[in-house]
This record gives sequence, structure tokens and C-alpha cells, in this order.
Amino acid sequence: MKKQTVIVTGASSGIGKEITKHFLDRGDNVVINSFTAGKLKQVYDEFGGGENLAMLAGDISKKETGERLVATALKQFGSVDILINNAGIFDTRPFLEVTPEYLDSFLNTNLKGTYFTTQAVIPQMLKQQDGVVINMGTPIVNHAFGGAPATAPLTSKGAIHALTLQLAAEFGTSNIRVNTIAPGVIRTPMHGDAADKSAGLHLLNRVGEVEDVAEMVYTVAKSRFISGAIIHVDGGMSAGHNLNG
Ligand SMILES: NC(=O)c1ccc[n+]([C@@H]2O[C@H](COP(=O)([O-])OP(=O)(O)OC[C@H]3O[C@@H](n4cnc5c(N)ncnc54)[C@H](OP(=O)(O)O)[C@@H]3O)[C@@H](O)[C@H]2O)c1
Repeated sequence: MKKQTVIVTGASSGIGKEITKHFLDRGDNVVINSFTAGKLKQVYDEFGGGENLAMLAGDISKKETGERLVATALKQFGSVDILINNAGIFDTRPFLEVTPEYLDSFLNTNLKGTYFTTQAVIPQMLKQQDGVVINMGTPIVNHAFGGAPATAPLTSKGAIHALTLQLAAEFGTSNIRVNTIAPGVIRTPMHGDAADKSAGLHLLNRVGEVEDVAEMVYTVAKSRFISGAIIHVDGGMSAGHNLNG
């Protein structure tokens, strides 16, 4: 398979780290990003800091970070074939306690991070007449549950689902595919030690592992005919309920 260049945001932890490993293990070039420079360098070193890997720390909500990621990819590897908009934050707060600043933190990192990093890569993908953008969504934008007040992160993720379909429509004729992966609850540092408490939300009665998501991201990235899709990797979370869940 042709060696490709992948940008992975939020690669210092959890799902993004495993996605990076998946592409590196299969021979692709990866440019990794995250917010905290020290954490990113640690992952860069853990993966051997070889010639297939480049890193750029920076706040993904800033448009310049996406532009600098593209410049790094082009300088080091000569193309941008796959963008994984994985960086994201989650938290719960009752709706009536949400402040403008709190809501902005989710709109900035989750939505604007995805929006403007994609805006930075599309010109190069247009030149190539080839490219894939994969966003990170969630099934709970269409399947709410009580007990976890999450209007702020969920409205930012819902917008990512909408963005995915519209971009797939705007750039499909240039052979640029845009998709969203919507994971169930995945065991990552985002959930601390609490992930397993959510096992019953999934028909499989377990939470997901980072490998479950990374292998789907890789498959969608390498496919030639999947576009505008919202793909649930959620152990059946959005399909139904366990009576004992
Ligand atoms: N885990 C789940 O159950 C689950 C379910 C559905 C969707 N998702 C989505 O999957 C993605 C990854 O989640 P995860 O569970 O792997 O989270 P995680 O372990 O908390 O990792 C989040 C990553 O995002 C980075 N990040 C946060 N804010 C950033 C910013 N402003 N600029 C650049 N990077 C930033 C973090 O960087 P630093 O730590 O280096 O600062 C870290 O690398 C997120 O978009 C999340 O919403 C997760």
C-alpha cells in the first residue's frame, strides 16, 4: 500500500495516540499534535522519533496551528493525505450553570479545532485531488441519556456531524472524502478510572478500547468509497438498551 502522510490531532493520549501507532506500524508518515508540549514529546519519544514521525504542539482551536501542521507535513513528507481531527474535550455541567466562557471552550477546541484544521488541509488535498478527513463525533448527539448533563460538549459535537456531511458534499467531486467516527464510551484518560461504570450503556455490556476505534479509523482512511458517513463504533450503544443496563 502507498505510504501516506497523516495528521493526527490530540495524539498525546487515548484514542489519538493509538491511531498514531496504528498508522506508524503500517508504514505511514504521521505528524502528531496536542496541546501540552511535554506530553507530546513523551509520545514522540515512545514511538521512537523516527523519520516517519514529526510533531507540533499547539492549541488546535487556533487557526494557525492547523496551518503550521500542514506546513510541517509538506516540509517533512511532501503531502497531506489524511487528517484525523481527534483532539477534543468533554465535561458535564448542568445546563443552567453553563456560562458563555464554558460553552466557548467546547466550541473552540472541538468545533473550531476541527473546522479550521480542515480548512488548512483542504487546499493541499484539492491540489492532490485526493484526501480524507476523519472527525471524531459521538452517538449521543442523536441518542441522549439522562444523568450526564453535557449540552456544551454535545452541541459542539453535533455541529461536527453536520460539518462532516456538508464538507463531503462540497468536496466530493475533488475526490476528498469526509467522515465521522462516533465512538461509544472508550477507556481513555478522558474518563479516568470511571469508564467501566458505563459498560451497561452498550449492548455488548463493555466499554470500548482504543484499538476498537483506531482500527476503524484506519479502515475508513484507506477506503476509496466511504464519504459523508457517520460510523458508530459503539458496541451497540445507539442501537438499543440492555434492560439491566
Ligand atoms: N473516550 C471516549 O469515550 C470518547 C467517546 C466519544 C468521542 N470521543 C472523542 O475522541 C477524541 C479523543 O478522546 P480521548 O478519550 O482519547 O481523550 P483524551 O485521552 O483526553 O485525549 C485528548 C487529546 O486531545 C488533546 N487536546 C485537548 N485540547 C486540545 C487543544 N486545545 N489543542 C490541541 N490538542 C488538544 C489532548 O492534548 P494534551 O493532553 O497533550 O493537552 C489529548 O492529546 C475526542 O474528540 C473525544 O471527544 C471520546
